[in-house]
Amino acid sequence: METNSYYLQNVYHRYIDLPFELEKPKWENIKQTFSEEQKVGSDYYDIKDKGDTDVYVCDTPENDKKVAEFLDKFNLFYDSKLLFNTKPNDSIKVHIDNNKEEDYSDKPNSFIDNHAKLNFTWEVPGGGLRWWQLNNEDNLIIDTHTQKNGKKWHVIWAKEEDCGMVYEKTINKPSIVNTGVPHSTHNPSNVERFTLSYNLVRKTDLKLVTFFEALWLFDGLLEA
Ligand SMILES: [Fe+2]
Repeated sequence: METNSYYLQNVYHRYIDLPFELEKPKWENIKQTFSEEQKVGSDYYDIKDKGDTDVYVCDTPENDKKVAEFLDKFNLFYDSKLLFNTKPNDSIKVHIDNNKEEDYSDKPNSFIDNHAKLNFTWEVPGGGLRWWQLNNEDNLIIDTHTQKNGKKWHVIWAKEEDCGMVYEKTINKPSIVNTGVPHSTHNPSNVERFTLSYNLVRKTDLKLVTFFEALWLFDGLLEA
């Protein structure tokens, strides 16, 4: 019974058994993301140099093909693939991913949508992901990025002191992760922590896959 309730309470992470492996991206195929706001920069979240902690785009066609073929069997596809780097002795601070730009209002609550991603992490000693519950929504920071085409992209950030940690996991195998609730990375090692992250979308109606839907879709492949 206890195992069962643990399984249900963990609405944050599952390992997924996949019939393939991915190659670790190489820095030569990785680029920084750019927005108008990043030119100005912010001490809190923006990178200064390639290799810093942040989100990147990368060219990994072989990996992408394997993921696309796998997702296709579940009538899914990915609409965004990003590389998250946490540099040595650093963390990606508490945030909620944004993957449905046009649907979000400016209200923080609309970002908390439990959407799921398929993540491949090259885990480091002592590293992992943490999930957080917000105790105080007053200090949320909505970070807006404007792309060249004028499209806006928001990420919502929370201060760790306004949160309580609810779950923690070392991500040393392919995983389904809930990125629509507050989460952070940590890397106490002296090597970079890479995650290749594919956003899951339903082919039928182009809606994001929630963590709960992913549990149902990938049933039989998942492990707590
Ligand atoms: Fe994230």
